[in-house]
Amino acid sequence: RTLRIGLIPGDGIGREVIPAGRRILESLPSSLNLKFSFVDLEAGYETFQKTGTALPDKTVDTLKKECDGALFGAVSTKVAGYSSPIVALRKKLDLYANVRPVKTTAGNSTGKPIDLVIVRENTEDLYVKEERTIDTPNGKVAEAIKRISEHASFRISNIAGEIALRRQNIRAAAPGISTRDQPMVTITHKSNVLSQTDGLFRETARRALAAEKFSSVYVEEQIVDSMVYKLFRQPEFYDVIVAPNLYGDILSDGAAALVGSLGLVPSANVGDGFAIGEPCHGSAPDIEGQGISNPIATIRSVALMLEFLGEMDAAAKIYAAVDGNLDAAQFLTPDMGGKATTQQVLEDVLKRL
Ligand code: NAI
Ligand code: MG
Repeated sequence: RTLRIGLIPGDGIGREVIPAGRRILESLPSSLNLKFSFVDLEAGYETFQKTGTALPDKTVDTLKKECDGALFGAVSTKVAGYSSPIVALRKKLDLYANVRPVKTTAGNSTGKPIDLVIVRENTEDLYVKEERTIDTPNGKVAEAIKRISEHASFRISNIAGEIALRRQNIRAAAPGISTRDQPMVTITHKSNVLSQTDGLFRETARRALAAEKFSSVYVEEQIVDSMVYKLFRQPEFYDVIVAPNLYGDILSDGAAALVGSLGLVPSANVGDGFAIGEPCHGSAPDIEGQGISNPIATIRSVALMLEFLGEMDAAAKIYAAVDGNLDAAQFLTPDMGGKATTQQVLEDVLKRL
């Protein structure tokens, strides 16, 4: 099988880590029978300065027509009138799920072992951006629409269930630090207050996850504020957490803080039949150009993209190589307390691969 991958480095250290991601794909063992072709695509602040748009039509068209998946680095956001290309891409390609695994390994754990994933709905909720401001005798009043649909709630819950089953298989093949023996999905909402919107999310998630194919998955729920508390108190308890857009946004940044560095945390923007891998960090202007940016978040994003393209074996090999690098703690970038360069970490992961 040959997969065509769009490469969108963007700005800043996006240009240092995306080439590392490409090297990983090029270096997968030949026994996997997996080949890749690449197309370089533009987006971001520099593209905006050059062309007046942060997301050229050509980038979107090429992704739609030619590509099976993509890697997105990071973009800088500095000016008004500039809108985020990743947000636009999610919309244009209907990438309705944002998936963010947060994991420690023995070598980078400061406390309890964490291995969880936040699955965030990506198309609706308060982020439909339907706001208005009304003048009243007592001053201005601003309002925003929170839109929750059965359709979006169902498909995000379904994909959360599928991720839970798949993680169980990956654990079975490579147990690593996790001792979990039953996959679990936690539904997050605030339906005690918002009985219609979050109520619909909760009800629909329950229905989606009650499907026969998920009979081995334990399903539970948490009110979002208590979810935050428990996520910080006992992160080791959680497996897959599914949430509407806004709660998912907040939970996923919060969860990223549970592990040592932003440079470790991957994500994927996922639709039906398409996935974009994207490290969670930004363009990191403070370390740009020094060759010391941590490539692990991007390398894990490569694996995550492959999972959603159906290439589990390839993904599992990459995860194992990354865990090996972190556990050995011999080649770590400065954000992890080490002295290695981006290139040295990449070479170490490649060697293990
Ligand atoms: P940032 O994620 O770029 O950096 C935060 C801190 O983490 C910095 O000290 C940075 O050096 C460090 N860091 C981040 N990634 C690292 C890596 N791979 N290796 C080692 N250290 C790493 O967030 P910040 O500074 O708030 O934003 C910088 C720019 O990035 C802004 O223009 C912001 O708008 C943009 N940004 C873009 C995102 C995206 O494209 N998805 C996400 C977050 C910010
Ligand atoms: Mg965020």
